[in-house]
Amino acid sequence: MAETRHSTSGFTSDWTQSLIDPRAFRDEQRRLEHVWTFLGFADELTRDGDWFRASLATRSVFVQRFGDELRGFENVCAHRFHPLRTAARGNGPLICGFHHWQYNREGRAVGIPICNMVFGKPPHELGARLRPLELATCGPMVFGRFPAPDEMRNGATGSLEDFLGETFPILEAMVPKNERRLYTERSIQANWRLNLHITLDEYHGPAVHPTTFGRHGYGSSMSRHRYFRLGAHSAFINSDDENCLASLLAGCRSGSYRSGHYFVFQILPDLIVAHAEADSSFWFCNVLQYSPATHDRTAFRAWLFTAPFESGRRRFVQATRPITDPFRRRIYRHYFNRVVNEDASVCERIQTVAHQIDKVPMLGAREERVGWFEESIQELTSATTAAGQGTETNGPR
Ligand code: FES
Ligand SMILES: [Fe+2]
Repeated sequence: MAETRHSTSGFTSDWTQSLIDPRAFRDEQRRLEHVWTFLGFADELTRDGDWFRASLATRSVFVQRFGDELRGFENVCAHRFHPLRTAARGNGPLICGFHHWQYNREGRAVGIPICNMVFGKPPHELGARLRPLELATCGPMVFGRFPAPDEMRNGATGSLEDFLGETFPILEAMVPKNERRLYTERSIQANWRLNLHITLDEYHGPAVHPTTFGRHGYGSSMSRHRYFRLGAHSAFINSDDENCLASLLAGCRSGSYRSGHYFVFQILPDLIVAHAEADSSFWFCNVLQYSPATHDRTAFRAWLFTAPFESGRRRFVQATRPITDPFRRRIYRHYFNRVVNEDASVCERIQTVAHQIDKVPMLGAREERVGWFEESIQELTSATTAAGQGTETNGPR
C-alpha cells in the first residue's frame, strides 16, 4: 500500500480513495475483518438452532445457537460457495441448500450426500469446513471478527473487553437483555465513513435538523460539550460536569446511574450507542450501525428501546406508562427516522462529489471527533496488515 501523509486533522491525504475506488475499499475492509464488529443480539437466539445473519467488513456471516453456546461462521459453503443462510434469521440445522452438505457446530462438513461415491472418501477425510468467527459478548450484544494470523496479534486483535475498554461497562449497562427493541433499517447510497462522520459532528444540527436537534440554533457556547477519546472510540456527553464520564462510568458499574443527559458513544468501526431524551424525563437508548456494503453504499440498521436507567419521572406519569409508552415509542421512532434520513441525504450528496475531493476537511471544535475517528481507522487498518488476507476456508485444521 502506498505511503499516506497524515494531516493534523487525522485525515490522510488520500482519505477519499476508499470512497471512490472499489479496490481501495476492498483492501480497507479486508483489514477491518479482524476488528471486533457488532453482529446482533444474543437474546434473539434463545432456542437451539436459532440463527441470524449479519455483515462483517462486507462479508456475509451468521451466528447460530448450538445448545448453550453461540458459534459464528462466514456464510459461504465450503463446497461451491452457496450461502448457507439465505434469510435475515431463522431456526434449523446447518444444511446447505445447493447440495445438502450438513455442518456441525465446529463448522465441519459431517453429512455429505453420496460422499464415497462422488468424492471417493468419507466426509471426515474430505476435511471441508466453514470459515469460523471468533465471538464475544457485552451484555446481550454479540461481536465477532475473523481470527487474525499470529503475526497480527496486536492492539487491534485483543479481547473484546480490551478493545471496548471503558466503554464495555457503559454498553453493558445501557443495553440490557430482553429489552423490547424497535428495529429499523435502510440502505444509504454513500460510503460508510461519511455516515460515521456525520454522527461525530455537533455542528450540522441547525442546517440539517432544523425541527429536531438543531431547533435551538447554533447556541452561544460549548460549555456543555464534553468530548472524550477512549482508545479507538470516542464519546460526547452533554453535561455541565467536567467529571461526567467518570460519574457515568461509576454509575453504570454500580447500577446507580439515573438518566439525566444526552450522551453518545462511537465504537469503531461502525457502531453508535446513544442515550437521548424523547420527551420530558423519558429516555431512549439507540443502537445504530452503519455497515459498509460497497464503496458507495451503506446498510444502516438501528434498535431503539426505553433506557434502562431510573429517571426523575413523577409517580403518576410512571404509573400510566403501560398506556402511554406504545404512543411514545411510535412518536420517538418517527423523529428518529427523520433525523437518520436527513443525515443520510447529506452523505448521499457528498458521495456524488467524492471524486472531486482532493484535500482534507477543515474541522472545527464541534467536529473534533471526526478527525479522531479517521486517525483510529488508520491505526486499525495499518495494525491489521494485509498479511491477514486469504485465510483458508477449506482443509483440515
Ligand atoms: S454449495 Fe453447499 S453443498 Fe454444494
Ligand atoms: Fe445529524
